[in-house]
Amino acid sequence: MKTIAVLTSGGDAPGMNAAIRAVVRTALDKGLKVMGIQRGYSGLINGELFEMQRHSVSDIIQRGGTILRTARCAEFLKEEGRKKAADVLRVFGVDGLVVIGGNGSFMGAQKLSKLGIATVGLPGTIDNDLSYTDYTIGFDTTLNTVLDAINKLRDTSTSHERVSIVEVMGRDCGDIALYSGIAGGAESVIIPEKGYDFDKLCKTILEGKLNGKMHNLIILAEGVGGAAELAKKVEEVTGIETRSTILGHIQRGGSPSAFDRMLASRMGVRAVEALIEGKTSRVVGIRDNKIVDDDIDDALAMPRKFNEELYNIANMLSK
Ligand code: F6P
Repeated sequence: MKTIAVLTSGGDAPGMNAAIRAVVRTALDKGLKVMGIQRGYSGLINGELFEMQRHSVSDIIQRGGTILRTARCAEFLKEEGRKKAADVLRVFGVDGLVVIGGNGSFMGAQKLSKLGIATVGLPGTIDNDLSYTDYTIGFDTTLNTVLDAINKLRDTSTSHERVSIVEVMGRDCGDIALYSGIAGGAESVIIPEKGYDFDKLCKTILEGKLNGKMHNLIILAEGVGGAAELAKKVEEVTGIETRSTILGHIQRGGSPSAFDRMLASRMGVRAVEALIEGKTSRVVGIRDNKIVDDDIDDALAMPRKFNEELYNIANMLSK
């Protein structure tokens, strides 16, 4: 292994820069040449590669987003596009590739590895939706962003004695809603893994009011439905003023938390070590606070275990 490259792909996540920094500095420390690829797989196909030095990643550990930019690339989904990408890597003399991204980006890495490129994936996504790892890079920062919004919404909801419905990201995975619901003291958490019973939700709101609750906070994962429509229906049935807030892409930005910086740094180091050890088609994760690497096929095939315990905690503490 002489030259490695790094790219970020899919939705950005706070901590991606810290991961890039760790990859670049570990590679240089081990005597490797390291190339940055702009705009994910799309930039790779277009040959947007440049050599990186230690100073290329100075002053980025605290920054959200990704200095390498990111993209979702339709061309890479086709065999022809992937062959082109593998050819570009060979032309630049790249032996190993670190892909920082989510599920879709890992599928790309898996296919590239079958074309003879050594690949290692780092889980960079706010969704925390990858089964093989306890946490993904960006999830913790997003939780803190959501909590900041919840704290503010609590103030105004209490003043007006309203119901507040907060829509957070998460199409198939409700972890952002579940964790922020527990940490933010929400009355209800609505997530794709569980769905919800509308009548029961309204009953909970009305009972809360009778029990002296000054407001009612509902965290809704985007995959279950829209906050605006739900707010309208809740207000009609309960007669309590209800407002909706969609946090949107605010959740994807911001300076990464200490946890995400640590996670990204530890994982970035491991990714380069794995390539040096001659490993390919691997993904780096964290389980029980240990950095691990797994075969990419096994990791992608792992069924997602829903955390029932956390869901029960959310329900019990919200009463
Ligand atoms: O996968 C990350 C994510 O932020 C999801 O939570 C969200 O549904 C999606 O990306 C939004 O994608 P886009 O930035 O393309 O609108």
